[in-house]
Amino acid sequence: MRTVIRTLFICCFLLALVGVLAPAVVAQTTAPEEKHPYIDPARIFEFERQEITLQPFAASGLILDIGGGGEGIIGQLMGRQVVAIDLLRQELEDAPAGPLIKIVMDARELKFLDATFPDVTIFFTMMYINGADHPKVLAEAYRVLAPGGRLRLWDVVFGPRPATGQDIGLVPLLIHLPGRDVNTGYGNRWPAEPHDEAYYARIAEAAGFRVVARRTEHTWCFIEMVKP
Ligand SMILES: C[S@@+](CC[C@H](N)C(=O)[O-])C[C@H]1O[C@@H](n2cnc3c(N)ncnc32)[C@H](O)[C@@H]1O
Repeated sequence: MRTVIRTLFICCFLLALVGVLAPAVVAQTTAPEEKHPYIDPARIFEFERQEITLQPFAASGLILDIGGGGEGIIGQLMGRQVVAIDLLRQELEDAPAGPLIKIVMDARELKFLDATFPDVTIFFTMMYINGADHPKVLAEAYRVLAPGGRLRLWDVVFGPRPATGQDIGLVPLLIHLPGRDVNTGYGNRWPAEPHDEAYYARIAEAAGFRVVARRTEHTWCFIEMVKP
C-alpha cells in the first residue's frame, strides 16, 4: 500500500509539474517538508486490485519504453533490449536495473531519428499524460518506429467519472513477471472523456497505426499496433 500511495503522490507531483493541477491546490496541501503534495483520500476512487501476467515477447532489436521509470516493468521484463525514457530523472533513478540505458526525455518530443526502433512499449504511462497530448505521443512513437514495427500499450480504463464525485482513480496492481511479482498501483486525475480500449484504438489509427490486437481486462486494457 505504501508503494501505491507513493506512486499516486509521484503522479500528482508530476501533474503539478506540468500544470494540470491548479498550483493553488498544491500550495494549500503541501507541507514544506513534503516532497509530494497531500491528496485528500476522499478524492480517490480505488479500483479493485487487478492482476497482470506478462511474458517476454519476441523482439528483434531495441525496445523503446516510454515512461519507463517508476517500477520499470518493461525494463524488468525485457532487460537489456530496453531503452527507457522518462520525463522525470528521479523516476528513472528509482527504477530497478534492467534497461540497457535510461534517458530523461519527453514522450511528446522524442530525440531519436525516424525509424530507429523495431518495438515501442507504453506501460501505464498514457494515464500520466494529459489527454490533449496523447495524439502527439502516439505520433512520436509512430515516427521512431521502423516500418513493420510494433507498439504495445497497456493502460487503465477510465470510464465515466464516478457518481460519487471522486476525481482521482487509483488502480492497485499485482504484476506477475517471470520469477517475481510486483505489487504496485497507478493513479491519476480522472480524464474528462473516457480513456478505454476504443479510445486508444481510435487515436492509434488516427496516428497511422494498424491495430492488430486489443482487449480489456476489468479496469485495464492492452492494444497492440503495427506501423504499416
Ligand atoms: C509511474 S510510471 C508508471 C508506469 C511505468 N512504465 C512502470 O513500469 O512502472 C509513469 C511514468 O510516466 C512518466 N511520464 C509522464 N509524462 C511523461 C512524458 N511526457 N514523457 C515521458 N515520460 C512521462 C512519469 O514520469 C512516470 O515515471
